Amino acid sequence: MKDLVAVILAAGKSKRMKTRTPKIIHPIMGKPMIDYVLEAIDGAGIEEKILVIGHGREKIKDYLQDRVKYAVQEKQLGTGHAVIQAMELLEGFSGDVLILCGDMPLLKKETLSDFISKHREGQFKISLLTAKMDNPGSLGRVVRDRDGNLLEIVEAADATPEQLSIREVNTGTYLFKASYLREILPALGRPNVQNEIYLTDAIEISRERSFKIGSATCADFRESLGVNNRANLAEASAVVRERINHKLMLGGVTIFDPLNTYIEAEVEISNDTTILPGCMITGKTRIGSDCIIGPNTRIENSVVGNGAIIRESVILESEVGEETVVGPFAHMRPGSKTGRNVKIGNFVETKKSSIGDNSKIPHLSYVGDSQVGRRVNVGAGTITCNYDGVRKHPTTIKDDAFIGSNSCLVAPVTVGEGAASGAGSVVTKDIPDYKLAVGMPARAIKTLKKRHKETSGRS
Ligand code: UD1
Ligand code: CA
Repeated sequence: MKDLVAVILAAGKSKRMKTRTPKIIHPIMGKPMIDYVLEAIDGAGIEEKILVIGHGREKIKDYLQDRVKYAVQEKQLGTGHAVIQAMELLEGFSGDVLILCGDMPLLKKETLSDFISKHREGQFKISLLTAKMDNPGSLGRVVRDRDGNLLEIVEAADATPEQLSIREVNTGTYLFKASYLREILPALGRPNVQNEIYLTDAIEISRERSFKIGSATCADFRESLGVNNRANLAEASAVVRERINHKLMLGGVTIFDPLNTYIEAEVEISNDTTILPGCMITGKTRIGSDCIIGPNTRIENSVVGNGAIIRESVILESEVGEETVVGPFAHMRPGSKTGRNVKIGNFVETKKSSIGDNSKIPHLSYVGDSQVGRRVNVGAGTITCNYDGVRKHPTTIKDDAFIGSNSCLVAPVTVGEGAASGAGSVVTKDIPDYKLAVGMPARAIKTLKKRHKETSGRS
């Protein structure tokens, strides 16, 4: 829609968030709040967006780059004053201007579309989006006459007890004909408790000029939730979480207990996969079909192939192949990759390693910086000793090798195709193809140079 521009207000200080990060880039289910607002605007067909910024503007620009145009409000003198700052960018524009707040992530594109149609069908110069709720708290109250005509918006701080009992509130979302907006902005600035230039005055002024004022009401009052503090952030997250889970369920994913399942906005999951309680699936994770995930599993920025089973495990930045079984209690750290039909069993940790088709690491192992071939069996308690205290070294285990339980593979080392190590071996030399290595070489005691190194428990 070329004849529609959105102006998003986001210059406020977010005082109640008690944060150094501008509130509109606080994440909700893995995605900054402002993205939800921009998506709703895009979804309603509006391409051009102007963001009014003030506090934290550099961080906001760093994040949004050229996805929006910016107008700067140096001092936060009220919502009306904020809109005035955007007018320069609207010079010569003759369509409609949608004004909304950057801290309303739950507003749906359908609601905006409906609001726009009502505004246009009624040929209004000004329209207001409202919501009805039982506990309107500090929101501005919408005052109407007996015939339902909009009279004014009264801020909670300025309201009489009678007005406070009104359940219809201002969502802070408006539509103006651009020419009318230009005309009315200089008239704002009536006295109020906060000594600000309120955009809400526009309603009363329009009524006095005897214009009819359009309005639409959100189907679900929760859409009007403004995120002002961390409690609101949690409320908004709960609603977004519910929407994400709902959409996945309609797409054929079974979610046992949606209230106990945390799936972020960008995650993709195919049909006939089951998510058990207590899972946290985040980032750009993609999960195929016919998988069983959970309970109590965390998967971050990973790919899980069709038919995989992941039980009570943690998988970070890794790829799990089709039909692969992981866990319980496995930890696949960044850079792990399995082929198909692999088993990463209980208390197994992998890191930066690839494990070929049909290989098994069933119990209590650490496999790091390793290339493991196909049909390899890694016995219980096997460790790839990849770290000499200074550097990391690679281990290669070729197809059909058999690693005896409790082997230590001291890297850099290669275990040949079809080769084996006996139980408890400490392998310090390469094992040629189809040979067996047995025994423990640690017989000598040598002098070590003292090493002083700070280590961090977080790494
Ligand atoms: C405003 C409305 C209120 C409505 C509520 C909905 C006014 C006077 N009141 O109240 O009727 O129910 O929104 O959430 O408009 N902002 C600026 N510059 C400013 C002031 C605010 O950019 O000088 C931005 C804020 O960053 C925020 C939005 O405008 O994104 C709303 O401001 P806020 O202070 O939260 O307004 P409310 O008091 O909640
Ligand atoms: Ca607000």
